[in-house]
Amino acid sequence: MRKASLLVVLLALTLMLAACGGSGQEATPAAPQATAGDAARGQALFNKTVLNGNAGCVTCHSLTPGKALIGPSLAGLARRAGDMVPGQSAEQYIHLSIMDANAFLAKGCNASRPEMPCVANIMPQDWPRKLSEQEVNDLVAYLLTLK
Ligand code: HEC
Repeated sequence: MRKASLLVVLLALTLMLAACGGSGQEATPAAPQATAGDAARGQALFNKTVLNGNAGCVTCHSLTPGKALIGPSLAGLARRAGDMVPGQSAEQYIHLSIMDANAFLAKGCNASRPEMPCVANIMPQDWPRKLSEQEVNDLVAYLLTLK
């Protein structure tokens, strides 16, 4: 009996987690906190061609300097990210670039492909719904290694 009720509790917890998983913003204070980002996990997420139903990062972003695909190359992103917006750390800039894709249209686009300036609304706008808080933390941790 005790084992069975433990199972029920675990199942309920799993369902709750799954329900919260899609959107970090709706997480209640009782939900477990996402842990710090893990760069290796972030790299695996980045390299998926389809990520949680969206086109994956790697389909639009190369890691080769100067090579623009649909979005700017993210080579050296960690080095320049901290200089993009005054008062904003590299981590904050990268986080917002994913979660609010039109917040600042990347200067990197013009540098990597002058004939194709950055266009708004190309990078998916719904990452906040598609990525869990943990997945975002992992992606940011990985992008911070691109020096
Ligand atoms: C459909 C194409 C597309 C996909 C998919 C995409 N991006 Fe982007 N991304 C863009 C474009 C275009 C820009 C430049 C315009 C802008 O800043 O919104 C951009 C900008 C960025 C920037 C700012 C770059 C800079 O030099 O300042 C980051 C960081 C970024 N994307 C990360 C990601 C990550 C991480 C993913 C996957 C979760 C992703 N992108 C998926 C098209 C895409």
